[in-house]
Order: sequence, then C-alpha cells, then structure tokens
Amino acid sequence: MRAFLLDQPASTLDADQLRQFGVLHERLAVAERASELARIKRQHGYKDEDEVSLSTDTPNLEAICAKFDKEHFHSLDEVRFVVEGEGIFDVRDKSDRWVRIFVEEGDLIIIPANTYHRFMLTEMKKIRCARLFLNQDGWTPLYRKALASTT
Ligand code: LAC
Ligand code: NI
Repeated sequence: MRAFLLDQPASTLDADQLRQFGVLHERLAVAERASELARIKRQHGYKDEDEVSLSTDTPNLEAICAKFDKEHFHSLDEVRFVVEGEGIFDVRDKSDRWVRIFVEEGDLIIIPANTYHRFMLTEMKKIRCARLFLNQDGWTPLYRKALASTT
C-alpha cells in the first residue's frame, strides 16, 4: 500500500493517517486467505464473499472500468482483499480532498459506507480481489454527479 494526497504526491500517508478519515488498511497473508478473511468477517460482521477479476481478458473491460472510475459511494462498506495484481483507489478525506491509495497483492482495504471514492487499474491492467459484504443490499453505486443533476 502506498498513499498520498493527490495534490501532494511527495508526502505519503500511513495506515494510521488513513484511519483518521475512516479507511482501514491491513496486510494479510494471501496463503492464509480463508482464515484471515474469516477473522475480518467476524470483526466487522461481514457475511457474504465473492471474487472479482479484471484483466485485458475481461470482456467489456473498458465499460466496467468506466463505472468504477466515476466518483461514487455505497451505503455499505467496500471491502477488497487483493490476491493478485494491483489497483488504485482514490478516496475523499474529511476535507473532500482526494487521497490516492495504491494497493497490491496482500493489501486489505475497507472504504467505509457513504464515502466517495473511485477505482482505476494501473498500467499492469490486472487485479483479482476477494470482496466481503455485509449483504448485497445497498451495494448500488451512487454517483456524485448524478446527485447534482436529473439526467
Ligand atoms: C466498486 C469499486 C471498484 O464499487 O469502487 O466496486
Ligand atoms: Ni465503489
């Protein structure tokens, strides 16, 4: 994980600084995936789990990425454990500034409910993540621009 304010790339933020605006990060052993994710589920009450994979082999990759890279939030936590590849989450801090968070294999990130964010692939164009959910309700992304406009 490597994080920084998007307009201050030289000053990196650690996990404690991410926690100050609600984003949780932990390193987990990919080889211990089942037991580690069981622990995270117990700690946070998450119930459901699935896996998402994006790569240049993914049909409609561009259309999928075009949904993720628009600023949005969910009414439930967004929980991702990267088991392969890498990606970029931009998350708004309490002052509405973008914090850029690079994640790679072994990174668990929890973006709290109702927190604006967006996601992009890196140059590698490959990520595989376990996703944990409280439940599947409230997972519809709510786009920021859509809230300000009727179209
Ligand atoms: C999502 C991420 C990528 O909503 O923000 O699935
Ligand atoms: Ni999201």
